[in-house]
Amino acid sequence: MIGSDSAIAEQWLRKGELVAIPTETVYGLAANAFLEEAVSKIYAVKGRPSFNPLIIHTNSIQKLESWGIELSATALQLARKFWPGPLTLVVPKSSQIPDMVTAGHPSVAIRIPAHPLALALLERLDFPLAAPSANLSGSVSPTTAKHVDEQLGNKIPYILDGGECKVGLESTIISCVHEKPRLLRLGGLSIHEIEAELGFRPEFNILNNENPMAPGMLSRHYAPSSKLVIGNAADYLNIFDSEQLVCIRFFELVAKIPKERQLVLSPNGNLDEAAAALYATIRKADAMKPELIVAEKFPEMGLGLTINDRLRRAQIQ
Ligand code: TXA
Ligand code: MG
Repeated sequence: MIGSDSAIAEQWLRKGELVAIPTETVYGLAANAFLEEAVSKIYAVKGRPSFNPLIIHTNSIQKLESWGIELSATALQLARKFWPGPLTLVVPKSSQIPDMVTAGHPSVAIRIPAHPLALALLERLDFPLAAPSANLSGSVSPTTAKHVDEQLGNKIPYILDGGECKVGLESTIISCVHEKPRLLRLGGLSIHEIEAELGFRPEFNILNNENPMAPGMLSRHYAPSSKLVIGNAADYLNIFDSEQLVCIRFFELVAKIPKERQLVLSPNGNLDEAAAALYATIRKADAMKPELIVAEKFPEMGLGLTINDRLRRAQIQ
């Protein structure tokens, strides 16, 4: 069922059931993080590998502290500046957090999301919500309740509908486990903003297949079922007819491809707007069943960095 009643969502969660929740980044597939049985359903429903840990969500730093989670000075600085918001912090785990949530890691990923309906729900709860993105493992993250419904509607009792996700890309993940903060995943908070707050740029530790410490960073992830490449559509015109391609464009159309086969993310050339439209546009391109989706490379600045990261992972390899 799809609805926008946080009291109904609360009831299902208390019973140990899964509820899809809106956040400003993407929709999450939430369970009571303190109930291992509920958390195990997340892995089952998504087809998620058991080694891939989950982010826990709540609405206040005080609650985190009451569950034994301590934030270092740097973690607190980032939390105070960017929460509620598209930033996940990895910090040492407390014994109250079940091992299943962290996939056995000694650290836990935490976030306060900036979405009024999610916050209204979290405020009612005396437990954190473990929530990965509400899609089947490896596929594109959902940015509307309808996207969730298409993939998971018959597997979960309730989808809390909070409209379209404003940011549209998953949170940026910073590990604060070691003395120096490390960037584990590019995301919806631009690295420039983090750098401006800290006064330095966190070390990049974007992970790959060999080191799945943030396995959302497996190199093939966020993938549509059509093949996708990053490049110039014109380069593919000697292999394919223009009718067999779909282009994902930042703001300008290219020559020699029909207009209706070019999906523009932001007519004004705004990277935040492009980010918000990215996943819905990949789904739309996929639904056109092209031989190939050709996405343009975005400017390597602000959320353009995250967009390029996601496009690279969606690409055929
Ligand atoms: O924006 C988001 O972060 C969304 C919304 C729902 O909050 N959630 C999300 O979750 O993207 P998910 O599960 O799709 O991605 C979580 C990432 C994974 O790459 C996971 O490996 C990493 O966080 N992660 C979780 N716990 C970790 C830990 N203790 N150490 C390192 N990485 C961790
Ligand atoms: Mg995900």
